Amino acid sequence: MPAFDLVLRGGTCVLPWGEEATDVGVRAGRIAAIGDLRTAGAAETIDCTGLHILPGLIDAHVHLRDPGDPAVETLETGTRAALLGGLTAVFDMPNTAPSITDRERLDWKRGYLEGRAWVDVGLYVGASKKNIAELASLELQPNVCAVKVFAGSSTGDLLVEDDASLEAVMRSGRRRICYHSEDEYRLQERKPLFHSGMPHRNHMVWRDVDCALIGTKRLMTLARRTGRPAHILHVSTAEELELLRDYRDVSTVEVLLNHLTQTDEAYDRLGGYAVMNPPIRDERHLRAAWAAVADGTVDVVGSDHAPHSRAAKERPWPDGAAGLTGVQTIVPLMLDHVSAGRLSLSRLVDLMCAGPARVYGATGKGRLAAGYDADFTLVDMKRQRTIEESWIVSPCGWTPFAGHRCTGWPVMAILRGAVAMREDEVIGTPRGTGVRFAEARG
Ligand code: DOR
Repeated sequence: MPAFDLVLRGGTCVLPWGEEATDVGVRAGRIAAIGDLRTAGAAETIDCTGLHILPGLIDAHVHLRDPGDPAVETLETGTRAALLGGLTAVFDMPNTAPSITDRERLDWKRGYLEGRAWVDVGLYVGASKKNIAELASLELQPNVCAVKVFAGSSTGDLLVEDDASLEAVMRSGRRRICYHSEDEYRLQERKPLFHSGMPHRNHMVWRDVDCALIGTKRLMTLARRTGRPAHILHVSTAEELELLRDYRDVSTVEVLLNHLTQTDEAYDRLGGYAVMNPPIRDERHLRAAWAAVADGTVDVVGSDHAPHSRAAKERPWPDGAAGLTGVQTIVPLMLDHVSAGRLSLSRLVDLMCAGPARVYGATGKGRLAAGYDADFTLVDMKRQRTIEESWIVSPCGWTPFAGHRCTGWPVMAILRGAVAMREDEVIGTPRGTGVRFAEARG
């Protein structure tokens, strides 16, 4: 019997301690050896010459809309998009219709993903003012990555905006809480300043820097008072990044691919297809986001994949839906940023593998290391390809990045030891299962 089920031979591995030209051996779905395996027996060998082998990339921020509107997205289509885009795990947000806010819906979702998910899935639980007392037990259920709090309103009906309720949420449970942190009071106060049909760039004027900064300041004060760890999602302003450097004792930081890639010129070019919460802003904030990637302020980069129908995106501002697709395009675009010299492949792995594993406490993922899940994203850094809308498999059918030429492309993805995607094709059947978290065991 061969020593390994699979050997990845001749590639350049992005290991936690640096890049190394070495082989990887897989047995029973896990990494069994890293080293020179030229003479080892293997049931299957993949020649990885010219490719980089990364730990399976994780998008810790997606909205797969299931249950919801299958004409926009489902768990099956969203995870297929993830896999084709080079991801092996996603963490799915709870603002579905209905939202995932209780034990029954959570149990349903865990069962539902088996046989439908093409990649592994972590599950967020939504906080509402009605389920605060249950959050402490909900966050311990298997496959739960975190409680998600919308402290400012966005898509769906989840909202916990006042300090007393937020403090009560923080005192119910112990794991790190994820926040959408725009300040609801400032949002509502400024809404009457705008009217239907105004140019889309008003989105960033309405939901302005202060809106984000006030929200994050309030949450940091409460987090320190209660000692409850926080993860501020989609940090979008230079001001918040500066503030958060003083709160590393209680908070981690997510920045989105969009805020690293797009600026306000997108409103003129894309109209409603540039509208998301928190908004795309001007160049100053994009530069601050890259500085925060460079100095380590940022722990995680995600896509905030948030599909909506074309009809919902094309309504006049501000009546249209906020949110942009991204789960299929985040890896090519981040690889393109690597090619442009904005970050290293090692830092990309830190932001999309080790970072999510550390922030959410995932076990068995996020590192190329013996004993870890044999999840790999194989990338060809020389491959040049243009993102085309016809490639997008989410039923809503659009991407704000159509026409973007990328240098660097994911050519293969391996999920727990078996090839799941190769050159634009998903292979076999949906084998995704729930991601495991150290503190969530039921
Ligand atoms: O733009 C956004 N869309 N931001 C969010 O916070 C939610 C998301 C959605 O679910 O549509």
